Amino acid sequence: MNVFVTGGAGYIGSVCVEELLNAGHTVTVFDNLSEGHRAAVDPRAAFVQGDLADPPGIARALKESGAAAVIHFAANALVGESMANPGKYFRNNVAGGVNLLDAALAAGVRKFVFSSTCATYGSPERVPITEDLPQRPINPYGESKLMFEKMLGWYHQAHGLEFVAFRYFNAAGASARFGEHHHKPRSARFTAPIIRRRTARASAITSTSSIWPPRTSLPWLPARKAATTLATAMAPRCAR
Ligand SMILES: NC(=O)c1ccc[n+]([C@@H]2O[C@H](COP(=O)([O-])OP(=O)(O)OC[C@H]3O[C@@H](n4cnc5c(N)ncnc54)[C@H](O)[C@@H]3O)[C@@H](O)[C@H]2O)c1
Repeated sequence: MNVFVTGGAGYIGSVCVEELLNAGHTVTVFDNLSEGHRAAVDPRAAFVQGDLADPPGIARALKESGAAAVIHFAANALVGESMANPGKYFRNNVAGGVNLLDAALAAGVRKFVFSSTCATYGSPERVPITEDLPQRPINPYGESKLMFEKMLGWYHQAHGLEFVAFRYFNAAGASARFGEHHHKPRSARFTAPIIRRRTARASAITSTSSIWPPRTSLPWLPARKAATTLATAMAPRCAR
């Protein structure tokens, strides 16, 4: 399948692109490199440096890629920053997202996979969080991702767009080649080198974080598992 991956130069996106290519798919990465790295894009993928804030640019890139599906990672994704600068999050994650959805429709793309977040649940009523719990975000990051999820629902109703949204959290680790290129250490990624070997063996592990309060036990999701899940969601029954 021919896939258009936004944010494919970033942490999870770069690993997902590698997984897609290994599975025989054709990939175009669209990224403005605000957080990602050109070197993190697998050389087998086509690369377009562009911004979701540029509607003609995103529409052209998507159409020229010939993609049949979009996997959408491009976003700002720092909770703390979103509290200090909510406008940045609504502009990029929501308004930028509308540009992408409209470009997908114009290009005839009908399959869409969204890298959402469990931050859409806010403070959950219980753990483990089940999908049916109410989504009540407590920060602009989670709110912006929930708004995009809702937009997907309306685009499905109005235009028949098929979509899947994954609400995961605390990705950690990397593949052997990608997932450790970052401008600055942030949240769970900071610990990635420490637990990489462990995550390679386990499907989920519990670790103690130096960033969250002491003795907080957090489950980690191996980045590669997140990437593979998003990659396979795109086309469960489709031929390559
Ligand atoms: N890392 C996690 O634990 C985690 C958990 C749940 C969900 N997510 C979601 O997965 C996605 C990727 O997260 P990540 O940790 O890989 O972040 P990241 O910052 O490493 O990757 C985001 C990528 O998007 C690009 N980007 C941002 N704004 C853009 C724009 N306007 N136009 C084009 N490219 C743009 C950045 O340059 C970067 O390469 C995000 O949507 C995030 O909300 C991440």
